[in-house]
Amino acid sequence: MNTTTVALTDVGKSYGRADALSDVTLALRPGITGLLGPNGAGKTTMLRILATALAADRGTVEVLGSDPGTATGRTAVRRRLGYVPQETGFPRGFTAFSFLDYLAILKEWSDAETRHAEVRRVVELVDLTDVAPKRVSALSGGQRRRLVLAQAMIGQPDLLVLDEPTTGLDPAQRGRLRDVLGRAGESATVLISTHQTEDVAALCERVVVLDGGRVLFDGAVTDLVRQATGRVWMADDRHPAAQHAWRTGTGRVRNVGDPPPDAELIEPDLEDAYLLLVGDAAHDAGLEAVS
Ligand SMILES: Nc1ncnc2c1ncn2[C@@H]1O[C@H](COP(=O)(O)OP(=O)(O)O)[C@@H](O)[C@H]1O
Ligand SMILES: [Mg+2]
Repeated sequence: MNTTTVALTDVGKSYGRADALSDVTLALRPGITGLLGPNGAGKTTMLRILATALAADRGTVEVLGSDPGTATGRTAVRRRLGYVPQETGFPRGFTAFSFLDYLAILKEWSDAETRHAEVRRVVELVDLTDVAPKRVSALSGGQRRRLVLAQAMIGQPDLLVLDEPTTGLDPAQRGRLRDVLGRAGESATVLISTHQTEDVAALCERVVVLDGGRVLFDGAVTDLVRQATGRVWMADDRHPAAQHAWRTGTGRVRNVGDPPPDAELIEPDLEDAYLLLVGDAAHDAGLEAVS
């Protein structure tokens, strides 16, 4: 399980003069890695490169032993890849079942009987069995999102690249999705971007934080959380030195930043640690800009 399955080395991607990714070096192994970062951090760009939807401008990319920079490499990767893009359209007129069946055909499942069994399996996996005969246009947003996830699970791919798969799902659906992804992560390499730090805390052993196209953190979730120890405290009011502060349901204020000496410190969670990491990086960048 310790073998590297995906390796990015000094990878860069630019749109015009703007760098969406700069010098990204990252190695992934089987298991679930969470990808966090503010909007515009470069998450989608990185995931599209891994999913062979976009070519890197600089650096080297190796995915499941193949080079997605070559046509044969891309085909080899695509045969073992499941991908949930951030945004998707749907061909008109398909039912949920026929949409998945069509994608399974594109994924080279030529025998109708085994293909239909596989489509039924992934439909069941994402809890869409009841609506499988319905047209995609009649499904809710959350149902469509799960349909996209279902197509990614066809054939139990070795690599799952999931761009904000939990967006639009209710808590019960997110719970079920975690179960599905947890199982997939027992053998596959799973990279999942999300704005929900709870998803990462619940699912991932490892987390990568991107900001401004660079890797700010890459390591164990517990190590990132530990970085916030001593920097989260409760008080009756917002503290001027807090980077972030919000009134909680109890009426007291959770402060995140540099506490005063007598602060009532509490255990940080992943969200605190993430906010501090991104906030401190912005602060350091500001200092660099003025010096
Ligand atoms: N097709 C594109 N053309 C021009 N700029 C783009 C394009 N796609 C992304 N960008 C820019 O690249 C940066 C990274 O975007 P993206 O990878 O979508 O970030 P994220 O998914 O973390 O929100 C942003 O500044 C974004 O505006
Ligand atoms: Mg994105």
